[in-house]
Amino acid sequence: VNRHNGAVGRAVLSDSLDTRCKCHGVSGSCSVKTCWKGLPDLGEIASDLKSRYLAALKVTHRLVGSRKQLIPKEGDARPVTEMDLVYLINSPDYCTPNPQLGSLGTQDRPCNRSSVGSDSCDLLCCGRGYNTYTEEVQERCHCRYRWCCSVVCRRCRRSLERHVCK
Ligand SMILES: *[C@@H]1O[C@H](CO)[C@@H](O)[C@H](O)[C@H]1NC(C)=O
Repeated sequence: VNRHNGAVGRAVLSDSLDTRCKCHGVSGSCSVKTCWKGLPDLGEIASDLKSRYLAALKVTHRLVGSRKQLIPKEGDARPVTEMDLVYLINSPDYCTPNPQLGSLGTQDRPCNRSSVGSDSCDLLCCGRGYNTYTEEVQERCHCRYRWCCSVVCRRCRRSLERHVCK
C-alpha cells in the first residue's frame, strides 16, 4: 500500500510537468529553441492529491503467483488503478485525544466561524461548539512618508474575535 501510494504521488507529479520553451536567434526568430519540463504551482499538485485522498479506495490484497495484488475491499467498488490512492484501515477519530496514536484531539484548536472548509468551527470542533474570545492586537497605522527616506506609523489597537473549539 505504501509503495502503491508513493507511485501515485510520483505519477501525479510527472503528469503535471509541462513543457516551457524559450526562443533564441536573431530577434527571437526561434532558430534555436531551448525547452525544459517545469513544475506547475505546488498548490495545483496539492489540490490534485487532496481530491485523490478524498476519493481513496479501501483495499485488501490477494496473492497472484508470488505477487500481492491490491483489490477493493468493498466488492462493488471499481478496480484499483495506478492513479488511485489506497488505504487499509480507516483513519482514527481525530476529534478526541488518543495519546497512543499521537492524536491531540481538537479541543482548544482555533477555528474559523465563517468558513465552510476543513478549518470551520462546525467540522473542526466535531459538533462540540466553540468558545469566543476577543484579542487585542497592535498594528501599525496612519503611516506617512517622511522626506527623506522613511515611513512613520502610529500604533493602533484593534479587537479581534477569535474562536477555539470546546
Ligand atoms: C475564515 O474563512 C473565511 C471564509 O472562508 C475567509 O474569508 C477568512 O479569511 C477566514 N479567516 C481566517 C482568520 O482565516
